[in-house]
Amino acid sequence: MLRIREVIILVLAGITLCCARMPAQAGAPQATAPAPVGPEQPIHFSHMVHADQLKLPCEYCHVMSRSGDTLAIPRAGMCMQCHQTMDTSNPEVQKLAQYAKSGSFIPWVRVYELPSFVSFSHKEHIEHGATCQDCHGDVAHEERVAKVTDISMAGCMSCHRVKHASLDCNTCHFLQQ
Ligand code: HEC
Ligand code: HEC
Ligand code: HEC
Ligand code: HEC
Ligand code: HEC
Repeated sequence: MLRIREVIILVLAGITLCCARMPAQAGAPQATAPAPVGPEQPIHFSHMVHADQLKLPCEYCHVMSRSGDTLAIPRAGMCMQCHQTMDTSNPEVQKLAQYAKSGSFIPWVRVYELPSFVSFSHKEHIEHGATCQDCHGDVAHEERVAKVTDISMAGCMSCHRVKHASLDCNTCHFLQQ
């Protein structure tokens, strides 16, 4: 008798486990659309290596401008703090060293960029608790940064509505008449 009861309990436990797993399977990654791929960049720079594996904080490279509007994209010289000695036989790192030597700006292809008639401040948003992820997605796990979030007017508006921030045209546009 005891044996049979044990078997029944095992079977029931099995069914429970199996059912508990089903919703997870239904939401498995293969069911979602393929992740967008970012533009080809002049140097193959990987956030996966630097932000995820090396655990460098975002702010280590993206230093806030004095106004707080923009976050800098680092110059080659800054990268050379490490790459003077690290991974120097890698052809991509050699390209980087060339830029640093000539002192020229690396022509990164921009991914998130607003038209000039829109005003935006990183500082204002970060101070109100917005995280990098809220607006740029999981950059640390992207091999090449892609535009995965909506920074169109509708995208800005939908968060402003939820957070009770201003929807006034003048908040984001310098309107002249
Ligand atoms: C509320 C949304 C929002 C948050 C939060 C946010 N960003 Fe941005 N980010 C933007 C938008 C919009 C742009 C485009 C700005 C432009 O073109 O003027 C941008 C541009 C950038 C750029 C390009 C340079 C620049 O400033 O234009 C970098 C780098 C960047 N963000 C990194 C970050 C990092 C790192 C964080 C977290 C510390 C962060 N962002 C948080 C919306 C956001
Ligand atoms: C704190 C040190 C550090 C800084 C700062 C740094 N890197 Fe790196 N980088 C590394 C390390 C470590 C590796 C991995 C080497 C390896 O895996 O063999 C790497 C790898 C690379 C690679 C080769 C990746 C590949 O997939 O082939 C490139 C290109 C690169 N970095 C570019 C840059 C650029 C551009 C900057 C500046 C924006 C930068 N790095 C800043 C430490 C750094
Ligand atoms: C080692 C330096 C380094 C670190 C650390 C780093 N980034 Fe970057 N980031 C770069 C460089 C270089 C670029 C320009 C090339 C590119 O787009 O991949 C860039 C580009 C970006 C852009 C696209 C800007 C645009 O509009 O073109 C965003 C957004 C961004 N980073 C967010 C982040 C976030 C969020 C983190 C932390 C999770 C982070 N970065 C950590 C160096 C870094
Ligand atoms: C993650 C949510 C979120 C997103 C996305 C977002 N905002 Fe905001 N925004 C806020 C919050 C919260 C405030 C602060 C409201 C307050 O001051 O009480 C704010 C404030 C502002 C301000 C006023 C800053 C000041 O000087 O007082 C401007 C301008 C602005 N946002 C522009 C934008 C633009 C442009 C976009 C889209 C590219 C955008 N926001 C996307 C949440 C967001
Ligand atoms: C929270 C920020 C925000 C507010 C508030 C806002 N806009 Fe915009 N607006 C944007 C952004 C961001 C763009 C750029 C869209 C793009 O890059 O495609 C834009 C673009 C536009 C454009 C250019 C055409 C287009 O659709 O791209 C017009 C016209 C415009 N806005 C009018 C308005 C008017 C009128 C209001 C008030 C009812 C307003 N906006 C309020 C953020 C805002």
